[in-house]
Amino acid sequence: MKSVINLIILILLLFISQIAQSAEIQPRIIGGQLADNGEWPAAVALLAPVQNQPGFFTQFCGGSLVASKWVLTAAHCVDNIKTDPSQVFALTGATNLETQGDLIAVTNIIVHPGYQVLSPNDSDIALLELAQDAPAPAQVISLFTGSPAVGSLSTVVGWGTTVFDPNATPPSSNPSLDLLEVQVPIVDQMVCTNLYASATPPLNAQITSNMICAGDLGDGGEDSCQGDSGGPLMAEQGGVFQQVGVVSFGTGCALPEFPGVYTRVDNFRNWIISFTENTGAGDDGGGAISWLLLPLALLGFSRRRFLKRN
Ligand code: ARG
Repeated sequence: MKSVINLIILILLLFISQIAQSAEIQPRIIGGQLADNGEWPAAVALLAPVQNQPGFFTQFCGGSLVASKWVLTAAHCVDNIKTDPSQVFALTGATNLETQGDLIAVTNIIVHPGYQVLSPNDSDIALLELAQDAPAPAQVISLFTGSPAVGSLSTVVGWGTTVFDPNATPPSSNPSLDLLEVQVPIVDQMVCTNLYASATPPLNAQITSNMICAGDLGDGGEDSCQGDSGGPLMAEQGGVFQQVGVVSFGTGCALPEFPGVYTRVDNFRNWIISFTENTGAGDDGGGAISWLLLPLALLGFSRRRFLKRN
């Protein structure tokens, strides 16, 4: 009898601690949660060195490791610095931005030639060549073939803003030092096209075939947001997570009538491979250039990372 009462008390205690925990849950990414340590080994943070403050960096976008020396990101993240790769460092293998990961110099920024040609956000994709292979625990992600079924859940990760309030200035705020994740349903292409086409300017946008949309059209509340750009949207294929999209844009964040818009990675498979297969996984070609740039990488590496972000 006594053990039955003990068991009941134990269950009650577990139940209460569960409630206490859920009361603590805060909006993440938007409406997401903390990623487990090492859960997304292909996720990369793009950091910009703060001018005249050696050792200080700000996180401004995300990315993903698609080959040991190549980071996939959004064109709009790096278009303004494409001729000056010293303005960006890739933090690979990190969950927490201040205490984990390897900070690697970027030697080459390749913005897709079709970026903004068809329409303002079209072909929002770019590749960053790293000064050295990203070491473990970072891991390469492969590209999703085709597109996940409409309504199926995909996962997007990032260190971007966690709060969106259209009436605040700025509307999106509170970026995260820890990697966050959220699941969003894939939206039908025609539905997304119509939602964005029929919105009142300047809320409208043209959805092209190089884009794929994801978000909860019923209630909203879950989305990527500012600072998540360039990061990966992922779904399972063959039992592993593969990359479906690159965080690109949206009207506001997590609004039910405006899903997040992602660059459709499968459309750029050949373009990506044309760079990564020459200097792909485990390759040691281009060694001369890597060796020349090693001091730069070491410089970044030995600095204390202290993120003062905006
Ligand atoms: N353009 C934003 C950035 O630079 C990403 C916006 C994503 N918006 C969205 N509603 N999913 O970080």
